[in-house]
Amino acid sequence: MTNISTTIGKVNFDNCLMNAAGILCMSQAELDSLKDSQAATFVTKTATLQARPGNPEPRYYAFGDSSINSMGLPNLGIDFYLDYLKHDARQAQRFLSIAPIQPDDLPQLIEKINQSHYQGMIELNLSCPNIPGKPQTAYDFEQTASLLDQIFSLSEHAIGVKLPPFFDLVHFDQMADLLNRYPLTFVTCINSLGNGLVINELSVAIKPKQGFGGLGGSIVKPTALANVHAFRQRLKDEIHVIGAGGVITGRDVFEHILCGADMVQIGSQLLKEGPEIFPRLQTELIEEMHRYGYQSLADFRNQLKYI
Ligand code: SIN
Repeated sequence: MTNISTTIGKVNFDNCLMNAAGILCMSQAELDSLKDSQAATFVTKTATLQARPGNPEPRYYAFGDSSINSMGLPNLGIDFYLDYLKHDARQAQRFLSIAPIQPDDLPQLIEKINQSHYQGMIELNLSCPNIPGKPQTAYDFEQTASLLDQIFSLSEHAIGVKLPPFFDLVHFDQMADLLNRYPLTFVTCINSLGNGLVINELSVAIKPKQGFGGLGGSIVKPTALANVHAFRQRLKDEIHVIGAGGVITGRDVFEHILCGADMVQIGSQLLKEGPEIFPRLQTELIEEMHRYGYQSLADFRNQLKYI
């Protein structure tokens, strides 16, 4: 039997596939559908201190195997997600995504998490491109350091960050140097590729921000693979890399792992296909591993040194 189990921090998972934050994970019904699926686990919709309606519609548009969105972090608020996780027998294996909207939101978010007895991991979203007037946090290295100083002084949870895509080798070096200063459990690469523009008929495809939004799906795969690989090469071994971006087939999962991902998140294609995507991707990943003679993901990862 082919082994596609994986580990992030101290937590073991029976396979290496999960949703990306924002996809099918906002409401109780959506989270239940992931819980009942063959995904290894789930990450919640990014929770903010207060519930948010998000940006005006239409705010998501699929084209081919790709998508553009400007959701604007619609979510039910941190209290809802902590309450949901309280009743989840596997909460230690879950990822709670959070984002501060205002500078002093982070201590309040962490205080609520600390008071809740939540045992799982935290994915700090430093990369949403869709809040009007707010830059993507991780492009500001000083602000990123300040948030990481804060979170590690307040929390004892296993913490990771979700990064936007980087494009410049010097920026990979600088961001990895910064991240290596902290006891991070994981780094997720990448969030959507910010501020693309897609035309539908005679106008922009989505309404917020005059049509500008984050690109996802197959169009971002080379950028996602570059980021996974660049950060895997630069981060300390103990920081796991979670790959996200452009996964349509098991071959795409295989390539993320080849570039250094320990876990792979699915975004646009999960929204298109629903949770049934997970058994399909598992089957296709195993077929791809067999094609190269691998029976276990751990063995396959040793291939990394060759790319
Ligand atoms: C959004 O809600 O705008 C998408 C999520 C994200 O980019 O972090």
